[in-house]
Amino acid sequence: MSEAPRVVVLTGAASGIGYATAEMFRDLGDVVFGLDIADTVPAGVTYVHCDVADRASVDAAIATCAAAHDRIDVLANIAGVVQFGHFEQITDAEWDRVHAIDLKGPFMLIQAALPYLKASRGNVVNVSSVAGNKPQPYATAYAAAKGGLTQLTKALALELSPTGVRVNAICPGTVDTPIVSHVATIFPDDLDPRVADRLMMMLPGAAIAPAEIGSAVVYLASPQARMITGAVLAFDGGMS
Ligand SMILES: NC(=O)c1ccc[n+]([C@@H]2O[C@H](COP(=O)([O-])OP(=O)(O)OC[C@H]3O[C@@H](n4cnc5c(N)ncnc54)[C@H](O)[C@@H]3O)[C@@H](O)[C@H]2O)c1
Repeated sequence: MSEAPRVVVLTGAASGIGYATAEMFRDLGDVVFGLDIADTVPAGVTYVHCDVADRASVDAAIATCAAAHDRIDVLANIAGVVQFGHFEQITDAEWDRVHAIDLKGPFMLIQAALPYLKASRGNVVNVSSVAGNKPQPYATAYAAAKGGLTQLTKALALELSPTGVRVNAICPGTVDTPIVSHVATIFPDDLDPRVADRLMMMLPGAAIAPAEIGSAVVYLASPQARMITGAVLAFDGGMS
């Protein structure tokens, strides 16, 4: 292990899971860069503006992070948006937006960070979703994008295994963040109760806290997980 502090690059650091995860890496003494379109990242985390759906913005943000300490050790792809509603009503623009942020974004970020991750024998943690693991009704664009992210994780983990770069994913169930309150307001009014049952977490207890997912990100990124790659961790209270 190098003596230099780890450089952690996190997307979605301005809210919810990304915010909580950024705080945890910061508290471990890592150098943390928070990439987001909003600048409300935690204190002690360096904000770098990045629209993960835009190649030029991604390349510029990764270059900024890498230049600071000439390394990147961890890339956590956490930024995401959700789209709920009837399949028939999804517009091309909605489909493209969800796929650009939730799937193409991680693709572009990993490509941009890979030279540095190879040099540091670093790793990637993708925050996918239970929707990428199991059928998720009324969320087909999101499910397709997250299913793609889950498969990208597995395929890339194998492709990169000779380099020592690890790639893992976490698939949360319902986490208590702003994204969820947004979902509640845009579920179809005529939600079929037989289908709605498939959206419920099975274990008793409240919604998952953002820091619970953060602790899993921190673990998968840690040296203790050095033999874990291609893993897809269902963190969903039994939903899947
Ligand atoms: N909350 C849940 O129940 C839940 C469940 C499963 C998966 N997830 C996933 O967890 C991740 C984080 O979600 P959250 O619940 O913390 O949501 P959140 O809305 O609290 O945070 C999402 C963050 O992504 C940022 N973002 C959105 N579009 C962006 C863009 N184009 N470029 C850069 N940043 C952008 C937002 O500004 C925000 O800070 C997402 O990928 C989401 O799909 C969440």
